[in-house]
Order: sequence, then C-alpha cells, then structure tokens
Amino acid sequence: MKVLVTGAKGQLGWDVLRELDRRGIPCRGTDVEDFDLTDGPAVKDFVREYMPDVIVHCAAYTAVDKAESEPEICARVNGDGTMNVVRAALSVGAKLVYISTDYVFSGEGEEPWTEEDPYQPKNVYGLSKLQGEIAVRSLMKRYFLLRTSWVFGLHGRNFVRTMRQLGRERNEIRVVDDQVGSPTYTVDLARVICNMIPTEKYGIYHVCNSGWMSWAHFAELIMAEEMLRCKVSPVPTSEYPTPAHRPLNSRMSTRKLNEAGFGPMPGVEDALHRYLQELAAEQREG
Ligand SMILES: NC(=O)c1ccc[n+]([C@@H]2O[C@H](COP(=O)([O-])OP(=O)(O)OC[C@H]3O[C@@H](n4cnc5c(N)ncnc54)[C@H](OP(=O)(O)O)[C@@H]3O)[C@@H](O)[C@H]2O)c1
Repeated sequence: MKVLVTGAKGQLGWDVLRELDRRGIPCRGTDVEDFDLTDGPAVKDFVREYMPDVIVHCAAYTAVDKAESEPEICARVNGDGTMNVVRAALSVGAKLVYISTDYVFSGEGEEPWTEEDPYQPKNVYGLSKLQGEIAVRSLMKRYFLLRTSWVFGLHGRNFVRTMRQLGRERNEIRVVDDQVGSPTYTVDLARVICNMIPTEKYGIYHVCNSGWMSWAHFAELIMAEEMLRCKVSPVPTSEYPTPAHRPLNSRMSTRKLNEAGFGPMPGVEDALHRYLQELAAEQREG
C-alpha cells in the first residue's frame, strides 16, 4: 500500500505522515510547493506519477474568519480543489480519505450530530467543506469521509497554543463558554486514519476525542495542565464577536466509529496531556 498525503506541512498531514512512517507504510507528503489544489492538471499529473493506493486529503483553506471576506478563494480550494483530488484519485483507482468538519451542521440544539443529520453550514468555510463532501460523495464509492472538530497538533496554530501563550502573559482571559464541542488531537485522528485505510469499511464517520466541553472549560484544562494561574472568565459568544458565525452545538456522536471497531477515541484530558508533553519536548529540543 502506497499513500499520498496532501497538506503535509499542516497540523494533521504532518501527523498522518509520521504515523504512516512509524508503521512502515510507504508514503509521500505534498504541499503547495508540489502542486496547488486548484490546479486540476497539476494535481492529476502528480498523482498519476506517484500512483498511490490511498490519498489522505488533509490540505484545506482553514482560515475560518478570513474566509468570510474571501469566499471565492475558500470555495476554490476546499470545493474545486477537493474535486480535483477526487478526479485524480479516480484516475488511478485510489481510495480517498477526506477530512471534513462539524461546521457543516447548523449548530442548533444540544443533541450530538450523527453522520446522517442534515447539512446546514452557517459560515463560508463550512459551506466550502460541504462542497468538498459533495464532490467526494457524488463521484466516489471507496472513500472515508471523516468529520472532526477543534483540531490541535504540533505543526500549526491552534487554540491550545494560543491559550498556553496568553496564560503565561496575563492574569485573566475571557473565553467563550456557550460553544460546546470536542477538541481533537491530530495524533489520535492520524491513528484512526491509518487503521481505516487498509479496510473496506467506507463511509462517513465522526472522529473526535471523547468528551464534550465549552472552549472556556477547555481553556481551564490547559491552564491546569500547564500549572498557570491565569483565571478563565467565561463569556457568551455575543460578547466575543468574530467575522464567521460559529456553531454553539458542535457535539458529534462517535457511535458509528466505535461500532465499526475504530473507537473509542481517547478522552480530551488524556489527549491534551500528551500534546502538551510533546510540545514541551519539542521546545526543549529547540
Ligand atoms: N483545524 C481545525 O480545527 C479543523 C476542524 C475540523 C476540520 N478540519 C479539517 O481538517 C483538515 C486538516 O486541518 P489542519 O488544521 O491540519 O489544517 P492546516 O494546519 O491549516 O493545514 C492545511 C494545509 O493545507 C495547505 N494548503 C492550503 N491551501 C492549499 C492549496 N491551495 N494547495 C495545496 N495545499 C494547500 C496549507 O499550506 P499553507 O500553510 O502553505 O497554506 C497547509 O499545509 C482540513 O481539511 C480541515 O478543513 C480542521
């Protein structure tokens, strides 16, 4: 089995490559320097030259707030770009892993979203990721469509890094406490991806670490784990306006993942602990 991973320099792509490597699975990572997702012929040429059995498509336009002011670019990368990857995968008969998001849902109610729930994205990024989902679902049969949420990994900016930094600089921070979801460590998501790709258990799965919490609660966990004295003051979303609308309910059910034998996912506290240890080790090593 040979695996091509897009978004190799991003949070998830990096860990997928590391996990594939650890398992001795031949793989190749690509990023914008190799090809731009929006350049269909370039994507196809690259894929046809490497001839992967599986493509793990982690690359995406992920700047959620910026997307509100450049919706065309976001749609081109996440929608058309994914269509280019789908066509390239079909041309070599490769399986595809597409990473999607809780933002394809409306965020209403308090029930966890299931794989069958209706789409209703409320921001430009969510709509563009849905366009990617539709490209995958309408043209492919051999795909794993994984919806995840609140991702943190070693290679890139994320909420944990930001809170850790702010916690060192300030005595108090205000954090939203009415958006609820599951933070997800890229190492844990990468393991699931690597367990899935040799199988034929295709379909849509929700994959996030176990446990739902608000951003404020997650921030408290980060402060506690890092032994920082910074006080986390919970505020409603209305007091923290952002260009992109964010769903209040990002709870996702991972029941299907568990029933298929790919779960359960580690708890958020455990994932956070391992991540902060890895971050500290990386900083020690310079
Ligand atoms: N981050 C989250 O909280 C979250 C939540 C749910 C789902 N997801 C999904 O999970 C996946 C991985 O997210 P992540 O946080 O690992 O993303 P990330 O760290 O932002 O990495 C995305 C990668 O895609 C590359 N890329 C962007 N535009 C490209 C283009 N036109 N052509 C080729 N490469 C391009 C980026 O390169 P540059 O850096 O050079 O632009 C970057 O290396 C994405 O599909 C994302 O939509 C993320």
